[in-house]
Amino acid sequence: MSIGTSEAVLQVLSGSVPRLLCSDPCFSKSDSIIPSKSYIKCIKKTASRYMKLLNCSSMQESPMGIHQFQGIGHSLYGNTAIDRLRLLSCKCQRAESLSGITAEDGNGTWFVNNSKNLNPINGVVNTQNVLEFKEVQQLDQKEGFPSNGNLAAVETVRDTLHKGSVDSIEDEAWDLLRESMVSYCGSPIGTIAAKDPTNSNVLNYDQVFIRDFIPSGIAFLLKGEYDIVRNFILHTLQLQSWEKTMDCHSPGQGLMPASFKVRTVPLDGDDSATEEILDPDFGEAAIGRVAPVDSGLWWIILLRAYGKSSGDLSVQEKVDVQTGIKMILRLCLADGFDMFPTLLVTDGSCMIDRRMGIHGHPLEIQALFYSALLCAREMLAPEDGSADLIRALNNRLVALSFHIREYYWIDLKKLNEIYRYKTEEYSYDAVNKFNIYPDQISPWLVEWMPIKGGYLIGNLQPAHMDFRFFSLGNLWSVASSLATMDQSHAILDLIEAKWADLVADMPFKICYPALEGQEWQIITGSDPKNTPWSYHNAGSWPTLLWQLTVACIKMNRPEIAAKAVEVAEKRISRDKWPEYYDTKRARFIGKQAQLFQTWSIAGYLVAKLLLADPSAAKILITEEDSELVNAFSCMISANPRRKRGRKSSKQTYIV
Ligand code: GLC
Repeated sequence: MSIGTSEAVLQVLSGSVPRLLCSDPCFSKSDSIIPSKSYIKCIKKTASRYMKLLNCSSMQESPMGIHQFQGIGHSLYGNTAIDRLRLLSCKCQRAESLSGITAEDGNGTWFVNNSKNLNPINGVVNTQNVLEFKEVQQLDQKEGFPSNGNLAAVETVRDTLHKGSVDSIEDEAWDLLRESMVSYCGSPIGTIAAKDPTNSNVLNYDQVFIRDFIPSGIAFLLKGEYDIVRNFILHTLQLQSWEKTMDCHSPGQGLMPASFKVRTVPLDGDDSATEEILDPDFGEAAIGRVAPVDSGLWWIILLRAYGKSSGDLSVQEKVDVQTGIKMILRLCLADGFDMFPTLLVTDGSCMIDRRMGIHGHPLEIQALFYSALLCAREMLAPEDGSADLIRALNNRLVALSFHIREYYWIDLKKLNEIYRYKTEEYSYDAVNKFNIYPDQISPWLVEWMPIKGGYLIGNLQPAHMDFRFFSLGNLWSVASSLATMDQSHAILDLIEAKWADLVADMPFKICYPALEGQEWQIITGSDPKNTPWSYHNAGSWPTLLWQLTVACIKMNRPEIAAKAVEVAEKRISRDKWPEYYDTKRARFIGKQAQLFQTWSIAGYLVAKLLLADPSAAKILITEEDSELVNAFSCMISANPRRKRGRKSSKQTYIV
């Protein structure tokens, strides 16, 4: 967690260790979002000194109006500090006491029963509910999902349940989500990754992660609570421009942090006051030192969702925000050595943030990239200066969708094609462009691929196809229209056919199958956290429920998501909202899983809210536009492989 001494020295030399002060003009209308270096230096001196002392920076305004310092660090300040804290220029409040949050109760269906009879700490759950679900389960004991399932049937099933207990799971989830809120300068700014009061080994789970906040933000948007999302967007934007280094090397401007923490430190030069700072982690302190490529992409997606949901377009129209979008785009669209339109990234640059053999062109990043490009195009204000950028963006969209749809797609038919590939084709019109050796087709895949269905593979490199099924990449390819309509349906068909593998006792497997034996040793570096069927290595992550729900709603098949939500509801609250589950069938709470993991809670809530009002999913969905379709069909007809190899496969691609 902490930066090693040598790195700290290097950072001092390079004048880094960026800090954001709340006394900054956080929401100034100024066009400049790059702070002056001397300002950063001056803050650094103070911040680094006190950072060692402070373990907890949250303060509370007591009913008597006396500020109390919470947490381990308080003894350092004693009673004098309590008085001094009255002088704070930027007072902190605990989220619960914030009155600025607009509680618009939204859809009555979800809040019929307001009784909060669950104890979130002891995880007491209504056992009657569990039994009833067992009965429901008997309706569907087969492997796989009932193929003719429809929403009406699901509704009927749901109606047989004890509605009150489901409502109280939701109430509990809302309570927990609100408890996870973090304030900065008195306003809500995000949610911490996990808040398990019984766990002292919090690692960096006490931080606000950008990717983890997305479902929280969406839940708040769907509830009509816009402030926290707006604050999150604007404050993280300020972090984007921070100078960041690792061993004297800086990543590109435009990188968004993986996470940040709100810290309270004494005000520089004034012993009688403190101030809050935002302390971002761009990967320079993260385990493995990974740069979070997905953060900026998610930020753009959330920004669009905020505008669509709240109707407040003034945020995306701000000059600072427009600049922020462009900085992310420039970083992603920069020319490099690549032959492929996909983004080349290191291992661990997304939700799977440690070594799992996904370096190269992992599907998750490509789906988020595509989605962010579409969202950004919608929001960028037309102006002379950005014509080149928009041209580059449009070209990339076409090339990227062609590349993924054409080369990442597999189903039984395509698998058989690969099985019969010729290799070492040197020519412009090679069928086997990436020189894939058919022996790479793993035995598990031959068995696993259903007759009906298909999916986008995890990664594609020269002479390498990573055939593992990665859920987030596939689900977001559906939501963003990176996959064609036919492919999107086929992905959902596969999910239904492979229900026992992908959902089983808890939705949703992060990837399938697990790396085992020597493969696990070599690819993960014998990572004890990523043992087979655990954590990133084919563990089951409840947060993925929300992306599943968006994908299902987009394809007008919400019954699939509704069924998965029912599975989750059987135990997620009783198990205290774990981060992930282990074993092939997700039977155990993950070995090192955090409890009360915020994105498990928020993911569940978003799934419920969207299923209650599927039209709300439009804030997250992007439809394919006609320009793209035209450009794509030109490319398809110009593709030699089409001419030579797959004349009859037209139905696979809607172009
Ligand atoms: C783990 C996950 C990562 C998540 C973080 C905080 O590191 O792999 O995706 O953002 O925890 O929850």
